[in-house]
Amino acid sequence: MTRKPWPLPFWIAHRGAGKLAPENTLAAFRLGAQYGYRAFECDVKLSSDGLPFLLHDAILERTSNGQGVAGEQRWRELSLLDAGSWHGRSHAGEPLASLEAAARFCIANRFALNIELKATPGQELLTGQVLGREVLRLWAGSGLAPLFSSFDPLSLQGARQSAPEVPRGLLLDSLRSGWLDEALGLGCQAVITNFRLMDRTTLETIHAAGLRALVYTVNDPAAAQTLIAAGVDGIITDAVDRFSPA
Ligand code: G3P
Ligand code: MG
Repeated sequence: MTRKPWPLPFWIAHRGAGKLAPENTLAAFRLGAQYGYRAFECDVKLSSDGLPFLLHDAILERTSNGQGVAGEQRWRELSLLDAGSWHGRSHAGEPLASLEAAARFCIANRFALNIELKATPGQELLTGQVLGREVLRLWAGSGLAPLFSSFDPLSLQGARQSAPEVPRGLLLDSLRSGWLDEALGLGCQAVITNFRLMDRTTLETIHAAGLRALVYTVNDPAAAQTLIAAGVDGIITDAVDRFSPA
């Protein structure tokens, strides 16, 4: 079966550099790159004034000195927060990254990016729609394209509406009824599961449908070996110091 162009190499650094640097910041991307990574996963949501930026949680407390729901705050205020001190003193003052900053870093270095649409609850469709437009703007003329992924079908639907040509992957943390039809119905090129779900049957089902099969978040060498032997198409890892993409 002929497959469409695919934007990612096999090894993908989770949230930039896993747990070795403050997640979803440019400091993490830089550290992941120092370990030889050429592809990065990050979580993206919208500020209250519609600017896409990198943050995993809906709220700010765990990974910054901010408080409350991130998506209810303007980028001007969010951009002044310290998103590094929580991780360690050497990262004090590290700002939250806008998607634009992450895009510039990746495009300049010819790195690939997996943008996980991690919408503030209630903004799933809008987040996908805005991100589709932003990706077309930011990556225009670069010859590169990111991969969109999401656990939320509405976000993927939104991205498909505004940027149908940008590839999409459905994230799964359970093999719920109808998951393959859902991925196909959303025009996805990939299914990205929790690695514990990816047995040979699941892998063959995904491949037989003409899709790629990726897994998150694999940090154990034995688990990685098993998944590689089974034929997965990509691994998202925190363990950038343990697995060398070369
Ligand atoms: O995209 C794979 C992985 O990042 C999904 O889980 O919670 O780390 O965003 P989470
Ligand atoms: Mg993620």
